[in-house]
Amino acid sequence: MNEFIEVGDYSNLMLIVDENSRKYCLPIILQNLNHDFRIVEVKSSEKNKSLESSKRIWQQMIDHNADRNSLCINLGGGVIGDMGGFCASSFMRGVDFIQLPTTLLSMVDSSIGGKLGIDFNGFKNLVGLFKDPESVFIYPKFLKTLSKRELMSGMAEVYKYGLIHDSEFWNQLIKIKNVHTSDMTDLIFKSLEIKKDIVEKDPFEKGLRKVLNFGHTIGHALETANLNTKGHLLHGEAVALGMIGEMHISFQKEMLSQKKLDQVADFLFDQYEINGETMFESEIIFRLCLMDKKNRNQKILASLLSDIGECQINIEIQQSEIDLALDYLKSKLK
Ligand code: GLY
Repeated sequence: MNEFIEVGDYSNLMLIVDENSRKYCLPIILQNLNHDFRIVEVKSSEKNKSLESSKRIWQQMIDHNADRNSLCINLGGGVIGDMGGFCASSFMRGVDFIQLPTTLLSMVDSSIGGKLGIDFNGFKNLVGLFKDPESVFIYPKFLKTLSKRELMSGMAEVYKYGLIHDSEFWNQLIKIKNVHTSDMTDLIFKSLEIKKDIVEKDPFEKGLRKVLNFGHTIGHALETANLNTKGHLLHGEAVALGMIGEMHISFQKEMLSQKKLDQVADFLFDQYEINGETMFESEIIFRLCLMDKKNRNQKILASLLSDIGECQINIEIQQSEIDLALDYLKSKLK
């Protein structure tokens, strides 16, 4: 690890952390960092991926005399990576940053591809930009600091790669009955290969990259609707539900057989324990789906599977189809 933080040419180093990455991951970094640094800390969790937290980051950077030649290292999961990158990229019109993801979700998805941002007024990732970090360092040992629930949240994005792009990978994944941190390196590598391939062809999500959003139209809506409730879902849990819901829409559109839908749904429901208080209120979910960034002209455009390993983009979906998908999810939860 000692060669990974090269800060020689930077005026100072800001480590952006939350209380979890500070407690569990920072000590691992410090064993291998012999450079002076300043800590910038914000509270963890999606509900703090906000303008208020961003203001706290910028203020701490000012207090620590950050200048345009500073380097920010985002040590944390998707929230710290997205928000830390957003704050770094806009501070003094942009300082360099490095992503040091500490969760499976951020290792396999959010730390690469340059999407940065914060939630705003109840809408996910509404304010943000595309900008690549100087580097991303994946250190799978951080996974040992995660709860099983956090680990499984990240697995949803790994399952997604199989479902959208690689049926062989999917078949390999469904054989893993008990996901364990020590078996992750190959899965992370394969996931990153798939994401890299897609993002390099379409970095700004003009077309192909929308496949990475499979499961996220309904998933983001469920995540947002349940954000401050007892039915709170982790991002990956919401994406797992979203993938099943959107596969049900593929089934309604006769793009996918009932057998394939049920096989995937049964597998995913076995992997995730969904909180009985999670809310599936159709009008609220529909309104949130209308805010999805893939939409155009008030039409909801989703990325839907046409087979295991094949995803089609820009498919218009209707409120009635979302309602039936939500009914299917609720029926499977019982
Ligand atoms: N997380 C989806 C993407 O990076 O495009």
